[in-house]
Amino acid sequence: MEKQIQKQVERRRTFGIISHPDAGKTTLTEKLLLFGGAIQMAGTVKARKAARHATSDWMAMEQQRGISVTSSVMKFNYEDFEINLLDTPGHQDFSEDTYRVLTAVDSALMVIDSAKGVEKQTRKLMEVCRLRDTPIITFINKMDREGMDPFDVLADIEETLNIECAPLSWPVGMGKEFKGVYSLHDKRLHLFSATHNGGINQGMVIDSLDDPTLDKELGLQADKLREDLELLEGAGYPFDAERYLAGKQTPVFFGSAINNFGVHELLDSFVQLAPHPQSRPAVEREVSPFETSFSGVCFKIQANMDPQHRDRIAFVRINSGKFTKGMKVRHHRIGKDVQISKATIFMAQDREGVEEAWPGDIIGIHNHGTIKIGDTFTEKEPLKFTGIPNFAPEIFRRVILKTPLKAKQLQKGLTQLAEEGAVQLFRPTQNNDYILGAVGMLQFDVIQSRLQDEYGVDAIYEPVELYTARWISCEDKIELARFKKGAARYLALDADENLTYLAPSRWRLDDAVETWPNISFHKTREHE
Ligand code: G4P
Repeated sequence: MEKQIQKQVERRRTFGIISHPDAGKTTLTEKLLLFGGAIQMAGTVKARKAARHATSDWMAMEQQRGISVTSSVMKFNYEDFEINLLDTPGHQDFSEDTYRVLTAVDSALMVIDSAKGVEKQTRKLMEVCRLRDTPIITFINKMDREGMDPFDVLADIEETLNIECAPLSWPVGMGKEFKGVYSLHDKRLHLFSATHNGGINQGMVIDSLDDPTLDKELGLQADKLREDLELLEGAGYPFDAERYLAGKQTPVFFGSAINNFGVHELLDSFVQLAPHPQSRPAVEREVSPFETSFSGVCFKIQANMDPQHRDRIAFVRINSGKFTKGMKVRHHRIGKDVQISKATIFMAQDREGVEEAWPGDIIGIHNHGTIKIGDTFTEKEPLKFTGIPNFAPEIFRRVILKTPLKAKQLQKGLTQLAEEGAVQLFRPTQNNDYILGAVGMLQFDVIQSRLQDEYGVDAIYEPVELYTARWISCEDKIELARFKKGAARYLALDADENLTYLAPSRWRLDDAVETWPNISFHKTREHE
């Protein structure tokens, strides 16, 4: 068993992609799935359709089985590696889940648009990665378009994100003049040829910088490449695996996802460099993935979109041991044993017939609302994993009940939805308002329709002027009591009755932090 676990852990990679909308996350994901043989496609346009088709196939399948978890986890194989790509919802469906997914990965891939550099959403997601010093590999995309000078992109990443860049590949030209990518590791140049068929593009490879073919193919750009490489040698950071694993340095690759160029090199390096499932902290102790006894933690709950099926799926990341279908595990928060007979083990293809899962894998457990985010499951040892927090919301709404008689249902609905992590609920200490907080707009729409469908409550929203929320803690009881009195009009309790400061403006928050130096204002809150 020990040997088997070791082998399964070492061949697994569980990661998420961080990027700003439009940088190319979807395109890159498709290409990675293509290399992994999880999807096949003939041409880029067709490919998109094929991908859509594939997605809807999964959805149909999921609906039949009464679940809807469309592509939340994409599993694929590459060489001897088994890769779990966890989707980090972007665009409109950007939500707290996007943040929380990043607490369940062992590493991240950052996609940057070469013309835009580091953008807002990437900065936010990077902050989440910092919470656990998650190792990050960077892919600078769209080299086939005019963009920033590669040195400037690196400087932008280093300055904005405060992380060292260690280029492992280097581009020759960009836009119309984009000629290829030089691998600093293999010391070979891979010449670019646009592929419009979406297939796997081998292209021509030049093995040495001194090869006359280089000058023949690149002309003056050959000299520029040699100069750039000299400059990098003098001024750049050499790759340092330890610094990468500590989240202090990011290896950088250049390419063009849409042309499937640079993606192969990226994937080759990714499986070699990125860490296998790592130890996870629990309140009691650190849990190693190599331990033979099963343990896992819930990091996301997804409600069924089909109103016929009220069940929810709890996404559980396996942290140690082996999971077998039908296994009995202990659900520690409620102190009960549960038999997990209907667990879904996520695969991009052929989900049927999978009977076991290993550390780094994600399983989906059906439940009717008994599982909360942060809940731990083990074979027997009582454990409570940490590091899967709530994140301070960034947008707020006041809930107005249209039928006052339904106040009880509203309270129940909002409390349950908050437990699921769909939204955060705050009750100001000085009035009876219901304030909802979220990190993405779509969360409010989802809550409104779920209140209607699942609890029969008609509610509307009203804007409320709030900047952010901070969870409060203070060892000194007298100081805390003084604070509660002094800042009463800004205080609220969240769904778990934790004291929260609702800041109407950034200025007010800064002022409160300065006025109350012994009070801690937390941006995240661990689940109890
Ligand atoms: P996202 O998931 O990060 O939001 O990005 P997505 O992959 O959807 O890509 C956003 C747009 O950028 C798409 O164009 C896509 O085709 C384009 N794109 C992605 N990678 C590259 C690249 O390497 N080079 C170039 N030139 N473009 C790239 P769109 O016009 O918005 O959509 P579509 O009509 O192509 O689907």
